[in-house]
Amino acid sequence: MYQQLKSKESKSCFTKSAMTNRRISYVLIGVFITAIILLMRQNSIDSFSYKSDTVEGYLSPSWIPELTNAFTCLRKAFKDGTSFQAAYQWYYMSSTVDKCSDKVAKILHMETYKGDEDKFLIPGPTPNFNYTMLTLGVGHSVKAEELILKSHPSCTRYVGVDPDPAINQDLVEKLGGKFLKHVVAVDDNIGGASLLGKRGYKTVQTQHTSFVNVVKEAELTKVIDILIMDIEGAEFGILADMIEHPQKYPTICQMNAEIHNAFENGPEGYAIIDNLHKMALQSRYLLLKVTQFKYSKNVFNRCFFINVKDDYCVKKYASKLFTSA
Ligand SMILES: *[C@@H]1O[C@H](CO)[C@@H](O)[C@H](O)[C@H]1NC(C)=O
Repeated sequence: MYQQLKSKESKSCFTKSAMTNRRISYVLIGVFITAIILLMRQNSIDSFSYKSDTVEGYLSPSWIPELTNAFTCLRKAFKDGTSFQAAYQWYYMSSTVDKCSDKVAKILHMETYKGDEDKFLIPGPTPNFNYTMLTLGVGHSVKAEELILKSHPSCTRYVGVDPDPAINQDLVEKLGGKFLKHVVAVDDNIGGASLLGKRGYKTVQTQHTSFVNVVKEAELTKVIDILIMDIEGAEFGILADMIEHPQKYPTICQMNAEIHNAFENGPEGYAIIDNLHKMALQSRYLLLKVTQFKYSKNVFNRCFFINVKDDYCVKKYASKLFTSA
């Protein structure tokens, strides 16, 4: 009787553990299949984006490994379109870009100029290399420009543009530059502009001049060696247009662009990480350095780009990033 009971119990015990084992194997098989599906999806995403990268001219065999790594790293960091993860990238851009591009910045001997905000520059091949410089949005300060002109005196043309000639015109002309009064935007039209007055910024309706037309008036239609841009949100549209229609624009070798709050500048603001991803795929401009400026909940990213695609710029500023072959 006791024996019987025991065997019954052990039997039921056995069936129970067999059932648990079976359940565990189902779970394991499920996990295994899910893992395979995920891996296959991952692979197909990778091979797809790799294909589109090659179409865009991404990954040139003549790049040194540091340049390849920088573009690959940026492309991965900015891959998330307009999603939440992409928004997160906005806040960590400075450390992301340090991680991706620091080696290239060192190879190019990137210089820092401390004005109201840091500006960056890659020096030319000889100590007295000549260059042109355009400032869009003077904003009552040309300190960085002054320091650049002091270290590199052979500036053949300097133009400063601002909506307000008061203070700004004087500053630009004292440095030997030409002043132009314009509200710069992507297109010529009437629209809102945030202008710096005596009591801070205020928004007014005004005539915009397209970057393309400003460049014509500045007589810089062929090459801008150094572009410094702080235009209160209009940069989102201009950067997007430069990606979309590069042929409209002059050859720009180096670009210091203050990118304002990504979340208060319409759809182009929200698309900024996606546009930086497109820039990494196009591989004309390498994002080399970002300094962040925070006030209350706003984060501005001051971005420095170097042109590694157009012959003039590559020969003059970035030849170290290419193998001689
Ligand atoms: C700038 O330098 C280049 C190469 O040294 C020279 O060919 C060119 O004429 C110079 N441009 C000006 C405006 O001096």
